[in-house]
Formats: sequence, structure tokens, C-alpha cells
Amino acid sequence: MALDERMEAALNDQVTCELDASLAYLQMAAHLDGDDRPGMAHWMYEQSHEEAGHAKQFIEFVLARGGRVEIGRIQTPVSKFDDPVHVFEEALRHEQHVTGRIRDIYRLATSIDDLESLPFLHGFLAEQVEEEAAVGGICERLRRVQGDEVGLALIDHELGSRGGE
Ligand SMILES: [Fe+2]
Ligand SMILES: [Fe+2]
Repeated sequence: MALDERMEAALNDQVTCELDASLAYLQMAAHLDGDDRPGMAHWMYEQSHEEAGHAKQFIEFVLARGGRVEIGRIQTPVSKFDDPVHVFEEALRHEQHVTGRIRDIYRLATSIDDLESLPFLHGFLAEQVEEEAAVGGICERLRRVQGDEVGLALIDHELGSRGGE
């Protein structure tokens, strides 16, 4: 089935949204790196890379469906943070926003009977559950150490071992 123009627009918006997240995370990574938190920075660089990969997946899907790709305007990322908790809370807010958008696209696909888009979107709904759990878990642990340097160093060390996708 040819790609409905409303779906094409929604998928293109999602490409922009994923790139927006990628840039926001790159800025967070740079902030953490400059703040001497190499493990957290590594985790965030990986996260930025992963979001760019999501954008590519949406691009490939639009093209596979015979649609046209048009990337929109990317927001200037937030660059000032109080502490690592603040950084990861901002990342969680981003993920929750993305989840809401993917749910909206899923609803749109259902409402216009675009069954071909559902399996693709399913993957992203599942991905968002994982992302929110991962980022939310880090927020919780960071809150628990309450700024204690030993606790922060432990979390930093652990996040530094994150593998690439
Ligand atoms: Fe994503
Ligand atoms: Fe994400």
C-alpha cells in the first residue's frame, strides 16, 4: 500500500525528532565529558549515536514505502545542567516525549488502516520501554547517592562499560 501523506509527514517528523534527541544527547555527553565524568559521557555518546541510528531507520522505512524524506528544523539543545542527576532527568524527559510521539504515530497508522507500518512501529514501542527503564534506572541511582563522590564514581565507572549497538 502506498504511503499515506499523513503518515509520511508523521514519519518525517519522527526523523527530525530522533535527530533532535541525538543532538541533545551529544550536548549532554560533551557536558559530562567536560565535567570529568568519562563513563557517563561515554554512555551518552553511545546514546546519541543510537538516536542517529533510529533516525536512519525511519528514513529507510519512508523510502522503502515510496515516500519522500524531508528533515525538519532541529532545536538548539539544552546545554546548562546543575549536576549529573539533572542531565539524566532531562534525558528521561526526552525519552518520555519520544514515547508519546511513537504512540501517536501508531494510533495514526491504526486509524488509517496502514497495517504495513505497525510491525515497524512495534519495534520502537518496545525500544521505548527499554530506554525509559534504562534512563529512569540511572536517574534513580544518581538520586540515591545524593551527590556523594564515591557513589558517583561507581556509577560513572559502570556506565563507562556500556557496549555499542
Ligand atoms: Fe530513539
Ligand atoms: Fe531513545
